Amino acid sequence: MKIAIIGAGNMGGAVTTGIASVLPEVKMTVSNPSEGKLKKLSEKFPWIATTTSNTEAADGASVIILAVKPWILPGVVDELHDIMQRDMPAVVSMAGGIGLDDLEDMMGSECRPALFCVIPNTAALTGESMTFMTHRRGSAKQVADVTKLFDACGKVSLVEERMVNAGMVTASCGIAFAMRYMRAMEQGAVELGLRPGEARKAVIQTIKGAAALLEATGAHPEDAIDAVTTAGGLTIRGLNAMESGGFSASVVAGMRAAMPKKK
Ligand SMILES: NC(=O)c1ccc[n+]([C@@H]2O[C@H](COP(=O)([O-])OP(=O)(O)OC[C@H]3O[C@@H](n4cnc5c(N)ncnc54)[C@H](OP(=O)(O)O)[C@@H]3O)[C@@H](O)[C@H]2O)c1
Repeated sequence: MKIAIIGAGNMGGAVTTGIASVLPEVKMTVSNPSEGKLKKLSEKFPWIATTTSNTEAADGASVIILAVKPWILPGVVDELHDIMQRDMPAVVSMAGGIGLDDLEDMMGSECRPALFCVIPNTAALTGESMTFMTHRRGSAKQVADVTKLFDACGKVSLVEERMVNAGMVTASCGIAFAMRYMRAMEQGAVELGLRPGEARKAVIQTIKGAAALLEATGAHPEDAIDAVTTAGGLTIRGLNAMESGGFSASVVAGMRAAMPKKK
């Protein structure tokens, strides 16, 4: 498989790292206007080709991953239009809030490659992304190829397009939401007397443990909470104080606020 990654920023860099770490056999060319990010990637993965030319990267690729900001996307699609029309690759947009119809409009009426909207998160860098994916006109092989690439970055859910934004809020914005919770835990731990380094280690390991427990047991979070909540004990006092501060309601309100508005 020969692929192109257009844009080597946070997401382009993370997805390149995820794919190169697990699938070194994939022939990959990464393009970016400035050379610093490309240099870092090729130092880490010397077998990857890099270029400042998007057309050079995309030429002959069966999958083109567009990892640029949403407002840059129309210009890049325009630049790659002839290659897409000629080669009919799987065109994968990672731009948040850009749907299949938006992509179709950018392509123009005569250019009809298979279109994918794929929303990974920054944990692709460590092979732990949660990626939501939807497509139009993808052949079985193209869907299998794109799934394989993002499987290398973590877990993939193929969903109907109407679910992509909910997935993006849960998993991509969700990384920031989880980080904010972890930051609050660290603040609390230091106030209670742990040194910052100990607090950091304890919070990371506790969150990893909580996620691993749910994954291994398939339990509902509330059942896992029950298992550590003694009647009249300390944990329930802590949980009730958090809820009286609006913890669960704030999380749900934050997720609702992050959802893109209907066009
Ligand atoms: N961050 C997330 O958690 C996340 C999650 C899911 C999806 N996304 C989506 O991923 C996309 C990229 O976001 P990001 O966070 O990776 O942004 P970013 O860090 O700013 O990276 C964008 C990259 O695109 C490069 N670029 C600019 N113009 C270009 C052009 N004409 N051709 C090729 N490359 C160009 C930039 O180059 P320079 O080095 O010159 O700046 C930069 O390296 C966005 O559409 C975003 O919605 C992000």
